[in-house]
This record gives sequence, C-alpha cells and structure tokens, in this order.
Amino acid sequence: MRKKYIIGSILVALMVGAGYFIFFFNSKAPEAQVYHPSTKPAEQQNTPNVSTPKPKTFNKKLYSLDDPASIWVVANKTRPLQPKSYAPSDLVSVGNGQRMRAEAATALKQLFASAKTAGYTLKSLSGYRSYGTQVSVYNNEVKTYGQAVADSESARPGTSEHQTGLAIDVGGGGCGIEDCFGNTAAGKWLANNAYQHGFIIRYPQGKTSITGYRYEPWHIRYIGAALATEMHNTNVQTLEEFFNLPAAPSYTN
Ligand code: DAL
Ligand code: ZN
Repeated sequence: MRKKYIIGSILVALMVGAGYFIFFFNSKAPEAQVYHPSTKPAEQQNTPNVSTPKPKTFNKKLYSLDDPASIWVVANKTRPLQPKSYAPSDLVSVGNGQRMRAEAATALKQLFASAKTAGYTLKSLSGYRSYGTQVSVYNNEVKTYGQAVADSESARPGTSEHQTGLAIDVGGGGCGIEDCFGNTAAGKWLANNAYQHGFIIRYPQGKTSITGYRYEPWHIRYIGAALATEMHNTNVQTLEEFFNLPAAPSYTN
C-alpha cells in the first residue's frame, strides 16, 4: 500500500513538473524568437546569417573496387577476381549449410529478422561458392542449357560474386532460385528493403546490358549500408553505373 502511494506521488509530481515545463516554453518561445528590427537587441543586430551546412558528398573512393576482400569489390564478366582462386578467410554459417563472410552474415541475419517482422520468411539457398564449386555449377549449366544461356545466368569460375562470400541467393514466399520469387510479396519486400541492411539486388530487371546477367531477383550482394543507402537515395541500381565502370559485355567465345 505504502509503496503504491509513494510511486503514485512521484508520478503526480512528474506530471505537474512536465505540465509546467510545457506551459512555460509554449508561452515564452514565440516572443523570444521574433524581433521587430527596431527592438532587436543591439548585440544580435549584426549577427551574420548562419548558412545551412553543405550536404556531405559520398566518398566513392573509400574502399577498393579491385581487392576481392573489399566489401565494394566489383566482379563481373570483365573484372575477374584477382587472383581468380581467391578465397575469403572469415566465412561463417548463415544457415541451411550456407556460408558468407562474417560482416555480410551479420547483416543477413538482421535482414532476415526484419523480413520476419514484416511477415516474410526468407531462406539462405546458395551463399559462398569456391572457385572449384563454381567450375561445377557453370559446367553443369553449359551441359544442361548450352553456353549462351549459361553465360546469361551463371558466372564463369573466377568471376562470380559468390566466390567473394558477399553474395547469396535467397528464396521465400514459395519460390526458390526462380523467376517467380520477384513476384512474391517476400521478393518485393526484399527489393524494397534490402538496402537498409547493406544489400542490393545485384542483377536488376532491365539492366542486363550493364550487368551482363539476366534479372535475378534472388541474388543479393552485400556492399554495406552506407553504399546501399546512397545507391537507393540516388536511384542508381547497379555498381557499374554507380562507379562509372564499363558495362559488362556478352562473351564472344
Ligand atoms: N548467377 C550469378 C551471375 C553467378 O553465378 O555468380
Ligand atoms: Zn547468385
């Protein structure tokens, strides 16, 4: 009883205090800020206008685009990883037997948690792939669909983002690594929100002539929240366009 009474008294005192505070500032603030030129205090008459600070320009040179261990590395048909046999040293599990580099894995966990809160369950389907694994994946594509189709959706060994440990294919909403994923609510949520956790849809719709690959709504690439947010805010979808790199052409052999 006594304890309840004390807590009650403290609450009442806080509410009265807050009320007085709000009343005091509401009643004083307007006059305090508006001066007629003639009544403005002398010491304030020659105050120079404080200009609004210039927005900071994004530093596009912060990280390497060439170092395979850089979170900004750009790998495509004309930019193989150097060396082609590169393997990251900090791979960790992202569930379902898949791995990514530690920083990307932490971000993916947060992305999946955020998706869950929004009502979508995303799954890790294919994360890190070694050079050797990519040899099998690519050769299998060529055998099944022919080289032209393989080159439109599977990277030649040494040029895949999967080998950096920064990319992963995800699924959800009843679709795996399939075209239908882009039309699911989960796929749409991912396209709209991945940037907040530092990911981009690396091969967007309508950008094949720039990325060199067909639309892959399931393939997300970690580049860090700063760059992903800058790309989102400036409405630039591909790394090639953002960094003014040549468009990745089709192979001729
Ligand atoms: N599917 C993408 C292009 C890869 O194989 O890395
Ligand atoms: Zn992929």
